[in-house]
Order: sequence, then structure tokens, then C-alpha cells
Amino acid sequence: MDKTAQYVFLVLIGSLALLKRVAGDPRAQIVNMTCANQLEHNASIFVPNFIATMEKISDQMRDSGFGTAVTGSGPDINYGLAQCYGDLSLLDCVLCYAEARTFLPQCYPYNGGRIFLDGCFMRSENYSFYEEYTGPNDRAVCGNTSQKASNFREPARQAVSQAVATALQNGGYAKAQVAVSGTNETAYVLANCWRTVNQSSCKACLDNASASVLGCLPWSEGRALYTGCFMRYSDKDFLNQEPRNGISRGTIIIIVVSIVSSLVVIAVGVAIGVYIWKRRYIQNKRRGSNDARKLVKLLHDSNLNFKYSTLERATGSFNDENKLGQGGFGTVYKGVLPDGREIAVKRLFFNNRHRAADFYNEVNIISSVEHRNLVRLLGCSCSEPESLLVYEFLPNKSLDRFIFDPSRGQVLNWEKRFQIIIGTVEGLAYLHENSKTKIIHRDIKASNILLDSRLRAKIADFGLARSFQEDQSHISTAIAGTLGYMAPEYLAHGQLTEKADVYSFGVLLLEIVTGKQNNRSKATEYSDSLTTVAWKHFQLGTVEEIFDPNLMLNNNNHSSNLKNEVSRVVHIGLLCAQGIPSLRPSMSKVLQMLKKKDEDLPAPSNPPFMDEKTMEFNDTSENKGYPFNSADTDSIATVTHSSFYPR
Ligand SMILES: *[C@@H]1O[C@H](CO)[C@@H](O)[C@H](O)[C@H]1NC(C)=O
Ligand SMILES: *[C@@H]1O[C@H](CO)[C@@H](O)[C@H](O)[C@H]1NC(C)=O
Ligand SMILES: *[C@@H]1O[C@H](CO)[C@@H](O)[C@H](O)[C@H]1NC(C)=O
Ligand SMILES: *[C@@H]1O[C@H](CO)[C@@H](O)[C@H](O)[C@H]1NC(C)=O
Ligand SMILES: *[C@@H]1O[C@H](CO)[C@@H](O)[C@H](O)[C@H]1NC(C)=O
Ligand SMILES: *[C@@H]1O[C@H](CO)[C@@H](O)[C@H](O)[C@H]1NC(C)=O
Ligand SMILES: *[C@@H]1O[C@H](CO)[C@@H](O)[C@H](O)[C@H]1NC(C)=O
Repeated sequence: MDKTAQYVFLVLIGSLALLKRVAGDPRAQIVNMTCANQLEHNASIFVPNFIATMEKISDQMRDSGFGTAVTGSGPDINYGLAQCYGDLSLLDCVLCYAEARTFLPQCYPYNGGRIFLDGCFMRSENYSFYEEYTGPNDRAVCGNTSQKASNFREPARQAVSQAVATALQNGGYAKAQVAVSGTNETAYVLANCWRTVNQSSCKACLDNASASVLGCLPWSEGRALYTGCFMRYSDKDFLNQEPRNGISRGTIIIIVVSIVSSLVVIAVGVAIGVYIWKRRYIQNKRRGSNDARKLVKLLHDSNLNFKYSTLERATGSFNDENKLGQGGFGTVYKGVLPDGREIAVKRLFFNNRHRAADFYNEVNIISSVEHRNLVRLLGCSCSEPESLLVYEFLPNKSLDRFIFDPSRGQVLNWEKRFQIIIGTVEGLAYLHENSKTKIIHRDIKASNILLDSRLRAKIADFGLARSFQEDQSHISTAIAGTLGYMAPEYLAHGQLTEKADVYSFGVLLLEIVTGKQNNRSKATEYSDSLTTVAWKHFQLGTVEEIFDPNLMLNNNNHSSNLKNEVSRVVHIGLLCAQGIPSLRPSMSKVLQMLKKKDEDLPAPSNPPFMDEKTMEFNDTSENKGYPFNSADTDSIATVTHSSFYPR
């Protein structure tokens, strides 16, 4: 590769790296995970409880870097706690927590566990452990790669005791550093108690942790993993400089300066880089760094790449008044571009810092998937300081606002709802069967069906789960899927095929017909989920009792026709939501069933979701729970590390 090109790439990568440093480090590496030693009591109660707890905590983490939640009752009650250490920004905290909640479910079928990461902690049990501060698993983990000279010992001790003293005055969190005199070395310490332990317990925990962590000397790293606190010393500066809860004025100036200087560098770099790249690309397709080429492509292609500043201005700096809603991957804001175009901007919960180029490529793929029933992705701001996605703006927002609200629901009589159903099926069938890249949506639900000005359905958020799943070093899988809509095999085993979307779609059909939301976290009523209710009425021949009264408004149809038509849709919903994936019809089959109204339908199999096996692991080696046929097995997408993924 020629020298100029190399230089340009180094400058580009350097400026991105600079921005990355300013944004902080989530320290999402796992130090240790320990599972409880009792099995859950009843999986079909435990799993939803656990997921609901993680969900509730998730919201609190975004706001305060700490969260506790309790779900359910009885032996499968679930208590959860998660906390980021005090030097993490909220953005980094979300990243660290996402990693924790992706891994902790691996403890299943044990009924609890705790996971220590370098940036955060999470624990879940079936009893209240919040005040515990000591326990048999407490221990220190020593780094074993390099040893320090004896002059490191005293500064490390001092830093540890300073951190403990400060933490007790400072809500349980402190960092400290003490220089090793006569050298360029420093001892860095972080100490943090969980916010649920009181001051005296925090003191006891930190005192004990100090003693054991100092036992790691002369190793260069020591971490104490305690029931009520975490402590770490190191000879490397692992601490984040940002104060908690956002970004100080000084940091903003640094960010602005870095962005401005980076943009200048990037602009010059792109001009040169694009020229060289074009020349070299034609000369020699194979040579040169793939990443560098991607990066140039990323910055060069201005069709999809929106400037961060443009989007910031368009949304009034992400003003709460412009907030349209919260999705699985981020918060959505309404924006107006300088030319007056209205857009929806999704501010992702995480930065895809390490993979800006790959992320951009994904956006490229998703934006090329076009169908009248899919929300258009217009582009992104893919690099720093945040990842933003830009979509077409749909004034009527989402289906859930209508069907779950008795007065707004009047706008949608049966004919309109049926058109929305058909549109959704066509969009999904396209994703599964017709687009260049087969896409499993993973998060089909009423709030992801948007309505245009003429109340036509457009599916939102497709493709995101797919692109994030590949990013295994990060999180993402943890964010996909919504409780209440998730297929049992996906929930319990992480097995993902397009039949998981069919299941979610079945639940959605029942919601559209009944105007009721499939209950999400009310574990006690789990067995009376909407799907079960619909099944019972279907068997008794009384489905019309569960119809949303709004269906009947202003119809041209004769009422007995209408009743038959809606009942048929309930029947199709039950077929889609069957427990066994191979029995669920494909989306194109569903379309046919909906359109050919006199064709006979197969009977739905046994009570779909009540079969306990659907929620349980196959401990008994006879694989009865999930009789995948071979076609199904072939189409199972990559199953990642954990057993089930919340949300
Ligand atoms: C588990 O809980 C469900 C729902 O309450 C119940 O129907 C089922 O019988 C329970 N299973 C066992 C083994 O107790
Ligand atoms: C926790 O779960 C175990 C095993 O299922 C059970 O024996 C125990 O009673 C439960 N504890 C509480 C407080 O419910
Ligand atoms: C602090 O919490 C511990 C453990 O729950 C308890 O034993 C102790 O009495 C509490 N101390 C104070 C001062 O509240
Ligand atoms: C985590 O800690 C437990 C003791 O609390 C230990 O038995 C286990 O080996 C550790 N796991 C790893 C991966 O270090
Ligand atoms: C450090 O510990 C790891 C895991 O316990 C081990 O694989 C590695 O060999 C150790 N390295 C040294 C230098 O002792
Ligand atoms: C400290 O100085 C030594 C040589 O005296 C050097 O090798 C090392 O890189 C320096 N460390 C830092 C953190 O500057
Ligand atoms: C640490 O805690 C254990 C029991 O929890 C106790 O026996 C021990 O004395 C404590 N050590 C220190 C240094 O406080």
C-alpha cells in the first residue's frame, strides 16, 4: 500500500480512537460469574419472573446506574440487583449491564447467580439478599501476568485505605491513586459498595475486601469480589475520568474540540483517501486493509451518512418534547431537517464504537430492503459520538396506541384492522422469503407496527437484531425480543428461526382482535395469558365473546359474515402461536389463509403455550420438547452464548 494512503488511514483511525477515549470505557469484561446451587422450582413461573426483573432493572440502570426489582411470589419469586461502579457514565453503564444480563441467564436452571464485571455487578436470587455484605464466596482474584517491585506495596496500601475512607463518606463509591515515589508509576484503586447495604455493612465489606485484595501483592492486579462490594487495585489507570451522570462542561469542550478537529482531519482525509482509494481499488482489488477500505467507504458515502450535528439540531438536541417513544434498541425522537422533511431519529442505547464500519454496512443492507409495508431506513450517523438511525416519519405512530385504547380504537373498525393485518403479513413474508437477505425480525409486536397517514401498516425495527447479534463482543442479543411475544423455544433455548416471528405475529393477531395486551410480567396470571384465553374460547366455540367491541363499528359486512371472518383470524392466530415451531405456518401460507376465506384450516394443536415442556430444558436426554423437523433445524440461525434472551 502506498505511504500516503497508509498515513491517511492512520489519521482517520486515530481521530476515531480519540473520540472513543473521550466517551469512556464500559469495562464490560467478565471477572467471575457464580450460580446459586438450588434449581428453580417451576420453569414456567421462574423464567418470566426473571426476565421481568431484568426488564425493570434495565429502565433504572439507564436513569441512575443502579436498579433493584422484585417479581412474583412463592418459591420462584425473583429478586434482582444491578449496579455500575461510580466512574462509569450512564451510556457505558447501559453497555456493561447489557453484557451482564446476557450472561447471567446461563445460570438457568439454577435459581440465581451473581456476575462481577470490571464495570458493573448483577445478582439475582429467590430471596431478599439486598442487605447481605459477606458470604462464603467472597474472595480476591489476583492478576497473574506481572509482578511489581516491593516499592509498589506501600502506595497500593495507601490508595486502598484512602479509597475505603472516601467511599464511606461518599455513598459507598470512591477511587484513589497514589504515585510510587521516584518512579513514573502509580497505584490506582476503585472501591464500591452496593447501594442497598448501609454504611456499617459497607465498612465491614470494604475492610474485609481490602485485607484480601492486598493479599494479591506483589501481582500488578487485584480484585475483591464480595457479597456487598467490589474493589480493585492496579498499576494501570483503568478508571474513567468522567463524573457520573453525564458529561461535564470541560468534557463537552474536549468533545467539541475533538469533533471539530476530527472533522477537519476527516474531511481532508476523505478527500485524499477517496481519491487514492478509487485509484488503488481499481488497480488492485485484493491488496490493502479491508477495514481501512470499509472506513473510507463509510465516510465517503454521503447518501446514508447523516452528520451528527444535523440530527442533533433536527431533534432540538434530543429534546424530551420530541420524544416519540422507546424501542428495544433506543429512544426515538421526531426531527425536522433543514429542508423541512420530517424524520424519526433513533438514538441507540449503545455506541458501536469498535465496529463503525461494519455497523454502517449493516445499515446499508437494511436500507436496501424496501417494501411498502416496511418502514424506510434513510440512513445513520454511524460513527461518534453516538450511533443514530434515521427513519421516515409516520404521523400516526404505532398500532398499540390504537388497539389498546378503547377510544382511539374506534378509529380502527374490522375492515381497517384486517388491512393492517394483511399489510403486516406481506411485510413479514417479504423479510422472510423475498428480500435479498433473509431477515428474522425477532421483535414483532403492536408497538413495532407503525401506521402511515392512511393507516396502512409498516413494520419498524427490522434487521437491527440481526446486525447486532453478530456483534458478540458487545451485547445486543440481550436487547432483542419482548416478553409476551417471544416464542417459547426462543425464550428458553435461544433457538431462532423465522417461526419465532410467526409466533409473535400470532400473539399480535389475537391482540388486534381482542384489543387486549398479552400480559407481560404478571407472573401469577401467566397461565391466563391472552393466548390461553383465546384457546379456551376457541374450543368452546365462544370466540366472539373476546372480540373488541370496536370491531363492530361502521362495517359494511353483514354481522354474521363479520363474526366468521374474525373467528377465522383467531383460528389463524392460534395456528401461528402453536408451541411446536414446525407446526406454525409460514408467513406466505398465512397470507393465503387470510385471503382465501373459504379454504379449510387445520385444527390448532394442543393448548399451545400451556405445555410445560415448552418452557423447560430437556434434562431428560430424549429430545421431546422440540421436535424440529430437519427443515427447521437447517434454518436455525446462529444460536449465541446464552440460553434465553430477555426483551
Ligand atoms: C408450574 O406452574 C404452572 C402455572 O402456574 C402450572 O400450571 C404447572 O402445573 C406448574 N408445574 C409444576 C410442575 O408444578
Ligand atoms: C428458593 O427456591 C428453592 C428451590 O426451588 C426453595 O426450596 C426455597 O424455598 C426458595 N426460597 C424462598 C425464600 O422462596
Ligand atoms: C446495617 O445492616 C445490617 C445488615 O442488615 C444490620 O445488621 C445493621 O443493624 C444495620 N446497621 C444500621 C446502623 O442500620
Ligand atoms: C468464580 O468464583 C468461584 C468461587 O466463588 C470459583 O469456584 C470459580 O472457579 C470462579 N470462576 C472463574 C471462571 O474464575
Ligand atoms: C494466569 O492464570 C491463567 C488462568 O488461571 C492461566 O491460564 C495462566 O497460565 C496464568 N499465567 C501465569 C503467568 O501464571
Ligand atoms: C515508566 O518508565 C519506564 C522506564 O523507566 C518505561 O519503560 C515505562 O514505559 C514508563 N511507564 C509509563 C507508564 O510511562
Ligand atoms: C472477613 O470476614 C470474615 C467472615 O465474614 C471474618 O471472619 C474475618 O475476620 C473478616 N476479616 C477482616 C479482615 O475483617
